[in-house]
Amino acid sequence: MSKNYVKIFDTTLRDGEQAPGCGMTTEEKLKVAYSLEKLGVDIIEAGFPISSEGDFQSVKLVAEEIKDCEVAGLCRANLNDIDRGWEAVKHAQRPRIHTFIATSEIHLKYKLRKSQDEVLDIIEKAVKHAVNYTENVEFSCEDATRTEIGFLCKAVELAVKCGATTINIPDTVGYTVPDEFHDIISTLLSRVKNLHKTTLSVHCHNDLGLAVANSIAAMNAGARQVECTINGLGERAGNASLEEIVMALKVRNDKNPFNTGINTEHIFPTSKIVSQVTGVKVQPNKAIVGANAFAHEAGIHQDGVLKERITYEIMNPKDVGIPSNKIILGKHSGRHAFRKRIEEYGYFLSDKNFETAFKKFKDLCDLKKYVFDEDIEALISEEFIRSSDFYKLVSANFASGTNMQPVATLTIAIDGIEKTVSEHGDGPVDAAYKAISRATGEYPKLLDYNVGSITGGTDAQGAVTVRIEQDGVISQGQGANTDIVVASAKAYINALNKLRWRKEHPRKASSSGV
Ligand code: KIV
Ligand code: ZN
Repeated sequence: MSKNYVKIFDTTLRDGEQAPGCGMTTEEKLKVAYSLEKLGVDIIEAGFPISSEGDFQSVKLVAEEIKDCEVAGLCRANLNDIDRGWEAVKHAQRPRIHTFIATSEIHLKYKLRKSQDEVLDIIEKAVKHAVNYTENVEFSCEDATRTEIGFLCKAVELAVKCGATTINIPDTVGYTVPDEFHDIISTLLSRVKNLHKTTLSVHCHNDLGLAVANSIAAMNAGARQVECTINGLGERAGNASLEEIVMALKVRNDKNPFNTGINTEHIFPTSKIVSQVTGVKVQPNKAIVGANAFAHEAGIHQDGVLKERITYEIMNPKDVGIPSNKIILGKHSGRHAFRKRIEEYGYFLSDKNFETAFKKFKDLCDLKKYVFDEDIEALISEEFIRSSDFYKLVSANFASGTNMQPVATLTIAIDGIEKTVSEHGDGPVDAAYKAISRATGEYPKLLDYNVGSITGGTDAQGAVTVRIEQDGVISQGQGANTDIVVASAKAYINALNKLRWRKEHPRKASSSGV
């Protein structure tokens, strides 16, 4: 590994998943993990195993299935967490235990209610315990950037002495600025004995919009691992965005002479999969992967780009995997064109799934003259990306009009057993939601209901997103159909599936405290 190689530690499945409503099922995590493996990340942090049985199973499955990346599990600095974490990751080709404790005075005083000496004692016990399982141990000082530098050096030095091979310096609350973070990293490297023998890592949050800039400043000071997420997903304002860091290094290698193992052409497909799985749409003006990132609206720009692309484009959209020639598919498109298009979007389906998708595509062509990429994405996502284990919409019929009370009759398969229910409502969507609730026995609070159109035209598919909440658990769902009432029913059922999964795998711990 060259001295300028920076390891990419992806925490979409752990810190990313902590964003409200972004909980993923085991099946969904594995789909994202396969995409991350293809993307070429060095380490996948697959979850926080002690937090719930579901997270434990997800980390275990990712560890068993992923061959080309290290797989890490997060553990607080206590023996139980570490034992459970090791159980989850131990079958990985290269398992990693990631243990952490807060070191800032604010966290010690108000959260942990412990003295510095007590924290040092905890670090020693935890790191030594983890090292008994594997030499691949990462230690993080939570809230490092608000930690008094003398104590930060002491905590890090102890972790190194006890055998941690990666030391991570998180900007937990997104508080630092590039110059200051550069100084913190330089100071640590100059003061802490043997730190240069470990991999020094950083983990930046984006509360001030500085996560990527801070991560790059840290690399320039000597950090050789960055922790980041796809689409910058994560708690509050999110984590440093993987795609922005990687492309900043690639495009401005003259200023940031670092290299990574990322296959940049798989950035866009991975971004799509994460967005589909979590239901969190990428903002249109998001760098690298937003819908407008390479769109040129102003006439003067369009003219420039047509004459010579580099007048207004600093990178080639093809380099991040954005499909170049958008062929619109239709009734006469064959299997070959359809397969090519879905593969460009990063979906590799088994032959059986491909045939199902192709049939659905043909059905859609009967309803719509032109099928756009966005329609195909919605179709694939609904069928193969999101989980739909418990409840499935079998059929839906609605009647409504100016002179009648709307009624909906739905048949829903519940764990494979079909149930038909009719309900009246204020409108057809209200009637459908009442019928679904009665059939499933689930009555969550509807927090948000949004309907949009996937493409233009009166034959466009309606895309519905809902957010629901029950007993403090929030989930999101999406559905698409040329009939917006059907799309609404699908979105509600998708959200209920996730809600049920979450309730069956409740979180017992949060990633703070010991
Ligand atoms: O932000 C943070 O401090 C974390 C640690 C657990 C690494 O996510
Ligand atoms: Zn974090």
